[in-house]
Amino acid sequence: MAEQINDLLNGNVAWVNNTLKHSPDFFEVLSNGQKPQFLWIGCADSRVPATEITNALPGSIFVQRNIANMVIHTDSNLLSVVNYAVKVLKVKHIIVCGHYGCGGVQAAMSNDKFGFLDNWLMHIKDVYRTHEDELDSITDEPTRFDRFVELNIQEQVGNLAKVSWIQDEWDKGEFPHIHGWVYSLKDGLIKDLGISLNSNDGLEKVYRYKK
Ligand code: CO
Repeated sequence: MAEQINDLLNGNVAWVNNTLKHSPDFFEVLSNGQKPQFLWIGCADSRVPATEITNALPGSIFVQRNIANMVIHTDSNLLSVVNYAVKVLKVKHIIVCGHYGCGGVQAAMSNDKFGFLDNWLMHIKDVYRTHEDELDSITDEPTRFDRFVELNIQEQVGNLAKVSWIQDEWDKGEFPHIHGWVYSLKDGLIKDLGISLNSNDGLEKVYRYKK
């Protein structure tokens, strides 16, 4: 487990050699440009790497990760990634992939202080408040934690749908489709939460921009 820093560099050389053995033109092709079909918004958790868990290759998924896979409308880093993915790369699908056992969600559920992180976690607490009745009614804590993870993903999918220039894309065509997925650390499987969006129809009226 505990890699030393040089293990990473040696691992890189081993990966290059192995890749070239199976696909001699791998780097030549990828160095000419990228055309990913997917944007992945995931948790920064080291156990949930986008390409590995989907058995996808470099070049197939544009990625943005942060603590608890949040879409916050003042986060110019995330929104720049989304803008480039949607406007320039023209990705067909945006996946918000959270995971059960998310430390960020668990921290937000607690009343403990985490210093600087509290400001980030506040956005997750806001999700709790939005779904307080449902969440407080779940007495079993692990079950409530799992449900909070799912509701947080659902809210982040909704947050993407609230972005005016994503709604512009839907006025022009069907893409991007926005999906909510949850990954299980226990068995490695991804569950589709079935909340795919490609219109602003499901949003509260105040978030639906005019065409
Ligand atoms: Co997490």
